[in-house]
Amino acid sequence: MPRHLTTLTTSTALLTAALALCSPVGARAQEAADDAATPFVLPDAGPFNPEKIEIRNAEAITNWYRSAHADAAAEAFRHWDEDEEIRPVCAVCHSGEGFRSFHGLDGSAPGIPEAPVPTGGVVDCGTCHNEALGSVTEITFPSGLVHPVEGVEAACLTCHQGRTAGITVEKAIDGSAVDSPNPDLRFINPHYATAAATWLGGYGGAGYHYDGRDYTGRFFHARPVSSCNSCHEPHSLEVGFDSCLTCHEAETPRDIRIARQSYDGSGNLGVGIRSDIDSNAALLFGMIEAYASEVTGTPVIYDGQRYPYFFADANGDAAVDTAEGRPVVYGAWTPRLLRATYNWKLVGADPGAYAHNPYYALELLYDSIEDLAGPLQIEMDELDILR
Ligand code: HEC
Ligand code: HEC
Ligand code: HEC
Ligand code: HEC
Ligand code: HEC
Repeated sequence: MPRHLTTLTTSTALLTAALALCSPVGARAQEAADDAATPFVLPDAGPFNPEKIEIRNAEAITNWYRSAHADAAAEAFRHWDEDEEIRPVCAVCHSGEGFRSFHGLDGSAPGIPEAPVPTGGVVDCGTCHNEALGSVTEITFPSGLVHPVEGVEAACLTCHQGRTAGITVEKAIDGSAVDSPNPDLRFINPHYATAAATWLGGYGGAGYHYDGRDYTGRFFHARPVSSCNSCHEPHSLEVGFDSCLTCHEAETPRDIRIARQSYDGSGNLGVGIRSDIDSNAALLFGMIEAYASEVTGTPVIYDGQRYPYFFADANGDAAVDTAEGRPVVYGAWTPRLLRATYNWKLVGADPGAYAHNPYYALELLYDSIEDLAGPLQIEMDELDILR
């Protein structure tokens, strides 16, 4: 039976869960029954209203406990351990308490929390199951876009929107000569798990948009998969792949493809659209390295494990330069290099970009490749890629 969130199934589930909680044996039996029960099945297309659901379900707790949202040991929750408190601006997304304060769900005035928030919090039940969340009707993105929301999407869109937008880059490079290294420029990091920003595409404005180019807007996909929780089970966060098979034929989500053209010039239509995104991203990355060496004169090295990710290799020995034992952060950014690198990092910051908005990701990569091709004297025709 599909587990649609109807009043009937919910109240039955809550009743059995409540009964189960009364006896430990019953609880285990209920958990076993829950595990054996239907896996995540495509729910109605939303809006989802968890703020109206009482929190009592053993299965939800178990799934949540195993998820990234509950992983109290993750860097995303431990980063502030040494400070013993989370800076207000960071706490909005890195602690349920900070999130509630930001939206005024705890009775405080909405906005960035007034004081630091204690460490130790995660994305707890009360982040999404909160009576007051239903009154949050719009979310502001880093681009300035104010997007209307219903139900729990308000929560997902608050935290998975990233921290920068194309306009952040535009402002930084404004007015400086496009191929001259500018010591005032720093790498602009879009932050992490930026799914909601990718999903809104050109309308969300997360990417650097090149002059004279149009960008695909929000990826509407198809009605039953139009919101975060129609694909992600909200507690385990896993993608309910069985539901994709209603419309797609594939082994895994990563193998899904509809496009009948090859964006990466491989001509291979037997692979998922993700493969085209990955190869164009790899092509762009190679061009970023070539541009750094040939045009700025300071080769760059990327280290995905170490903020701010881009380091200098001025002597070209393929190792990060060090000064007083510390790695030298890349400092030869030109506007052209910065905007292409920003787009590259943005596409990579959302491992689900291929499902959230494949066309937007492909456009950002294509335009960035084209931008670097000029000074590298590479003919776009020879690359054989499509936008
Ligand atoms: C708009 C919401 C938001 C804000 C504001 C925010 N973050 Fe994050 N941050 C996230 C999300 C979502 C992740 C999870 C990425 C993942 O690990 O999947 C994350 C991940 C991180 C990580 C882990 C990165 C890694 O490599 O695992 C660090 C460190 C971090 N943020 C630092 C900060 C700091 C410092 C601030 C404040 C200056 C901040 N964040 C503000 C949403 C936010
Ligand atoms: C990231 C947001 C989020 C968090 C955190 C979260 N929930 Fe949920 N929860 C939802 C959404 C969305 C639904 C509606 C699901 C649907 O329509 O299928 C839901 C539904 C439920 C239900 C109804 C039955 C079901 O499983 O669909 C229960 C019970 C529940 N949650 C309990 C909890 C508990 C207990 C916690 C903490 C351990 C928790 N939730 C944490 C978003 C969340
Ligand atoms: C209060 C901020 C916050 C809210 C609200 C929130 N998330 Fe997250 N989410 C995070 C952080 C932080 C991480 C990374 C945690 C970690 O690294 O362990 C994350 C991780 C994830 C992941 C990655 C799982 C993985 O295995 O890496 C998914 C998927 C996700 N969230 C989806 C959602 C959806 C869908 C919603 C809305 C129902 C939502 N999130 C609401 C902050 C939030
Ligand atoms: C069409 C289905 C679909 C929709 C709608 C959707 N996602 Fe995803 N999401 C996916 C798939 C598929 C992946 C990639 C899983 C993989 O390849 O491992 C993913 C990956 C993610 C990740 C990264 C997980 C990781 O492993 O680091 C996050 C975070 C995330 N989604 C959040 C969201 C949020 C927030 C929304 C709503 C704005 C959303 N998703 C909407 C299908 C979807
Ligand atoms: C109700 C039917 C339906 C369901 C269910 C569905 N999709 Fe789709 N999907 C589509 C349609 C239609 C398109 C083409 C949309 C467009 O181009 O605007 C598409 C496009 C895609 C694409 C881009 C493929 C390409 O080559 O352009 C990906 C990736 C994708 N879906 C992933 C998923 C995943 C993952 C799920 C399950 C979580 C899912 N879809 C569930 C109908 C569906």
